[in-house]
Amino acid sequence: MPERSERFAARAERELRREVLIEPLAELGLVAFDGPNDPAPSLVLEGDRVVELDGRREQDWDVLDHFVARNGIDPVAAREAASLADGEIARRLVDVDCPRAELVRLSRGLSPARLARIVTMLDPVELMFALKKLRARHAPANQAHVTNLKENPALLAADAAEAAARGFAELETTVGVSRYAPLNALAILVGAQTGRPGVMTQCAVEERLNLRLAIQGLVTYAETLSVYGTEAVFVDGDDTPWSKALLASAYASRGVKVRFTSGGGSEALMGESEGKSLLYLEARCLAVVRAAGSQGVQNGSISCVALALALPGGTREVLAENVLAAWLDLEVASGNDAIASHSEIRKTAKLMGQFLPGTDFVTSGYSSMPRYDNMFGGGNYDSHDLDEWLTLQRDWQVDAGIEPLAEEDAVAVRERAARAVQVVFEELGFPPVTDEEVALAATCLDSRDLPDRDRAADVLAGDRVLAEGISGLDVARALERRGLGDVAEAVFAMQRQRVAADYLQTAAVIDADGTVRSAVNAPNDYRGPGTGYRLEGARWERLRRLPHAVDARLLGAPPPREPLLREVGEARALDTPDDVVIAVGPAFAGALGETINGLAHADVLAAIVDGVRDGGAAPRVVRIRRSADVAFIGHDGARLAGSRVAVGVQSKGTALIHRADLQPLDNLELFGMAPLLTVESYRQIGLNAAGYALGRAVSPVPTLLDNYARAKLIVRTTLLHAREAAEVVRGVPAVEVEPIAAPTPA
Ligand code: 5AD
Ligand code: CA
Repeated sequence: MPERSERFAARAERELRREVLIEPLAELGLVAFDGPNDPAPSLVLEGDRVVELDGRREQDWDVLDHFVARNGIDPVAAREAASLADGEIARRLVDVDCPRAELVRLSRGLSPARLARIVTMLDPVELMFALKKLRARHAPANQAHVTNLKENPALLAADAAEAAARGFAELETTVGVSRYAPLNALAILVGAQTGRPGVMTQCAVEERLNLRLAIQGLVTYAETLSVYGTEAVFVDGDDTPWSKALLASAYASRGVKVRFTSGGGSEALMGESEGKSLLYLEARCLAVVRAAGSQGVQNGSISCVALALALPGGTREVLAENVLAAWLDLEVASGNDAIASHSEIRKTAKLMGQFLPGTDFVTSGYSSMPRYDNMFGGGNYDSHDLDEWLTLQRDWQVDAGIEPLAEEDAVAVRERAARAVQVVFEELGFPPVTDEEVALAATCLDSRDLPDRDRAADVLAGDRVLAEGISGLDVARALERRGLGDVAEAVFAMQRQRVAADYLQTAAVIDADGTVRSAVNAPNDYRGPGTGYRLEGARWERLRRLPHAVDARLLGAPPPREPLLREVGEARALDTPDDVVIAVGPAFAGALGETINGLAHADVLAAIVDGVRDGGAAPRVVRIRRSADVAFIGHDGARLAGSRVAVGVQSKGTALIHRADLQPLDNLELFGMAPLLTVESYRQIGLNAAGYALGRAVSPVPTLLDNYARAKLIVRTTLLHAREAAEVVRGVPAVEVEPIAAPTPA
């Protein structure tokens, strides 16, 4: 048996390696793009009538071909596109001077195979740039998932409220048991409107029920309309492109915002890929979505993302899907909802494709609660990751649709939303939501912290919502009666929005004041540097001020309350052989009072003094004033010392033992890891210095290493050093100092 490498073995244990990566297997449709069985693009017109699409004549078409050819191709654009080479169109996708509108117009003249082939010509950065340019709405936004395993209404409302307060523009819930749907829809409606008026909500359930909840005013959008890239999968789902288009119209005609769902990998997963690539089949899906007249789509592999990422180029393919959708003038909710990888590095690398350019909804479902409670099959990002998401926005100065929220504000809005659901349940005669549930919903980690509810009674209440036609208006009235007028107002405003239906326009979201922002009145107008949406001004201030960011002026060690050292005159050079100098920095026990490790300067100094004495030498303390550099502090000290040996200590705690004949940057021992030094370490440093001074054999003080010290402490180091440097007076000699009072015991 060959030798096993321990390093290979260690890597094999990493999270990433739980995943299976495969070579393309085209016959099963497991190829990201450019599949060997993908048709060559073609689009043949007779007059304005399409007679051939991607290599197939009309008599050979499947349902998707028929639907796209008859509803999705603009003959004028088709003739124009026919005169352009693929490379020319690809170039226009990344040409800042080619306006979005022109590209959208051209897209209507391209067959699915040609759409796929052209975006395949773009590299990842070009894809990102194209996406930035092609996104429909001016500013990006985000969508959140709100569920819990107990289907607890107080917790649903609390999570919805917090998500709304964090800036999510859309919230969706789903159910484990479908009879819960009306209650869940009601809970997130109330929660969302408590958190921020105008947030749209949906409850992802079977379409008939979905539509019913919408008609009752309990939800305002739907994105449950899945389409697939082969006829066989449509047939399996008892659907056709026409049935989906009809359903979309049914929603829209009742004032419900609709987007479809598609994404590479679903056809292969369902065993009906016809051996075609993910991107080609997704191009067919998107052509159908466009032809059905939908304003938008949730795409980018979605629930199949882990399958796409098993393939070479998978991440790039998923991004190309989003670009295609935006190019076709569809609002894009760009995935990043299902778990893409076990590896935090890998999944965030994938996220950057959408995060940096910005999409209409950067995730099509950010889990606003811990993963345990996510009933959409676990979220790619969840409540535990919020600080990281916010920090990434701050790092890149990019708006990915989530706002910081202070802990007390989160708890308050959660409590209020849970209370609002409590009173609505009471007013409607539903099973009570207890005060304990309200309190826990505000502060808990997840639904395990909440008591169990009477599930049988809850589902009966859910049945009543449908049987009695309890509506959004009834919910608003209940809130009004119980003194929650502002939430009532917001719930009522959503009913008005549904009647006005301005939010049916492409990529619409609703501001807190009720203004609908969509591609009509707030289009993406990016035309090069300095144009389009940029995270700046008040919004940038808001997104960068994180609750966990601190004021640099308040960081660092405070000065000692009382002076510790008295200056007793200019430091002399002695020639007594046991004289060991302890040279401290300009701010030591003055402008600063403790080391970066929080050790009081008085204790540090006492320990070194003790160590030198225990080692049989005579300690003498001097303050170096001309430099804050530990090398020169030590060197200047050593030159004054009768033994030629000194301990140098910066105020932040970095220390060394130096001898006068060495170069300033050379030394006997260096203790750079100040955060790890203890009072005992300083005593040993003193002891060793005495040993060197008296010519004994000395074994160096053992040093520890913390590889994260720099990442953790570099800011504090900088601030402490800045204060030390501020005390420097160039060219002045060192002064001898002595303690004013006995140092505090360690
Ligand atoms: N294609 C089509 N529909 C999808 N869904 C998820 N991923 C895809 C995809 N790649 C739909 C499924 C799922 C919901 C979240 O969205 O219906 O239940
Ligand atoms: Ca979603």
